[in-house]
Amino acid sequence: IPPPNIKQDPQAATSTQLPRGQSLGTLTTGSGSAVQSNQTSLTAGEDGPVALQDFHLIDKLAHFDRERIPERVVHAKGAGAHGYFEVTKDLSRLTCAKFLGAVGKRTPVFARFSTVGGEKGSADTARDPRGFAVKFYTEDGNFDMVGNNTPVFFVRDPLKFPDFIHTQKRDPRTNFKNPDMQWDFWSHVPESLHQVLILFSNRGTPDGARHMHGYSSHTYKLISAAGEVHFVKWHFRTNQGIRNLSSADAERIAGTNPDYTTQDLFDAIERGDYPSWTLYFQIMTEAEARAYKYNILDVTKVVSQKDFPLHEVGRMVLNRNPENYFAEVEQAAFSPSHSVPGIAPSADRMLQGRLFSYPDTHRHRLGANYLHLPINSPLFPPRNQQRDGPMVFGDNGGRLPNYEPNSFGGPAECPNARELGAHTRVEGILARHPFELTDRDFDQPRALYNLLPPDEQRDLVENLAGNLVLAQPAIQRAVLPHLYRIDKGLGSRVEQFLANNSNKGPSHKL
Ligand code: HEM
Repeated sequence: IPPPNIKQDPQAATSTQLPRGQSLGTLTTGSGSAVQSNQTSLTAGEDGPVALQDFHLIDKLAHFDRERIPERVVHAKGAGAHGYFEVTKDLSRLTCAKFLGAVGKRTPVFARFSTVGGEKGSADTARDPRGFAVKFYTEDGNFDMVGNNTPVFFVRDPLKFPDFIHTQKRDPRTNFKNPDMQWDFWSHVPESLHQVLILFSNRGTPDGARHMHGYSSHTYKLISAAGEVHFVKWHFRTNQGIRNLSSADAERIAGTNPDYTTQDLFDAIERGDYPSWTLYFQIMTEAEARAYKYNILDVTKVVSQKDFPLHEVGRMVLNRNPENYFAEVEQAAFSPSHSVPGIAPSADRMLQGRLFSYPDTHRHRLGANYLHLPINSPLFPPRNQQRDGPMVFGDNGGRLPNYEPNSFGGPAECPNARELGAHTRVEGILARHPFELTDRDFDQPRALYNLLPPDEQRDLVENLAGNLVLAQPAIQRAVLPHLYRIDKGLGSRVEQFLANNSNKGPSHKL
């Protein structure tokens, strides 16, 4: 069990320390003129009022007043690091994505690990899925894999995402967490229970980011140079080994060092202990995917590794800490729609919803020019006719025409570029086609529960029932039949726990 506080080495260089003796010259105002005093405001006489003409003071206060940007609506608390991805197995027959090409090819990456429900200052060890987002700065533009540390998700239609997330946040009346909300929702949306079991297993409290796997969760498409399509699930497997915290340790650390994961990642990289993950694909042909016993477009389901084994692709190594947290980690903007030729989204409707949602939230959180920010801009500067808007970086297209086609030059179209998922045959009735809940939805949670060794089954039951007991009895009763449907043993153990423990639910009821 790791110590609750990672020891802070007072000698260790932090990002705010400069090597001894190094100077950065004169202190200047935002507009670049020398600052005469950074200690004393300009006043009319010793005891007189402050002068409006003190630009340095006004600019400093006004800038400070605007230091906060909206935090991410989900995944607000996170830690990030730079590194590289190196191809170790040649899969170029499956995809024309250049960064997945020749063995030995290296691509710079930036990865961010996060919790989901908490605010920017919340505890890193909260029981929660973990975000696992990787930006690949490829020669064909940026490719983002915005995954989680779980191979499935709670809901399978993007219409349900805001509802689900509301249940993970604060009660609208009291502004504190209310277990009624999440259990009420899950009792009505039982396809969530696969992910709920993972959440309340020991994997719900990973011991930092270095000791967890990452998954695309969704199925993606790989497109070869010849236009052939394969379906793939991405698996980043930690080379540090899986390590989880017990519930008790996670809670204790939340109180003593809420930045446990952030510090663990930073310190490991500072001391040269670079974390790495091996990337594998599960690969299916279109025919295999169509014939599979589970819908590969349903993100509440896994594809069994017995049916489709893992194929090694490459290795991701994180070896450089950010120089500035805000500029690099906070302003990082990932999106499943940041893609490159050779990789395309599948028709998983959750993934399709995400293609819209991320750039939309980035325009709100960072502004219309979020892709100009250094952490988000591709290796080669984008060339197009987009202009202006808040916070333009660079030359804004200079004197080049801001329309196309034109007679004066400028960037030209590339007819051979392979569009996202283009050349996919699509036909069907435009309608709201529901995913019906069937017995199939309970197979995989059952298999998961029965795969756990006895001590982990015990932890799962105690973690889950220990939280469910905080909900109203009527909601507890609504959840139990679903747990029985997963596994009779699971249902009865949870029911027993609830019977033995009085309802210690929150004072406020919905
Ligand atoms: C972050 C929406 C499902 C992984 C976010 C953000 C939004 C969002 C709005 C905040 C982004 C920002 O401000 O930078 C949605 C919607 C979903 C969905 C609408 C479903 C329809 C998922 C799923 C996964 C996932 C299924 C994993 C497989 C992440 C990660 C982040 C994130 C890792 C944090 C990225 C970062 O580190 O900046 N999501 N999400 N999300 N989401 Fe989702």
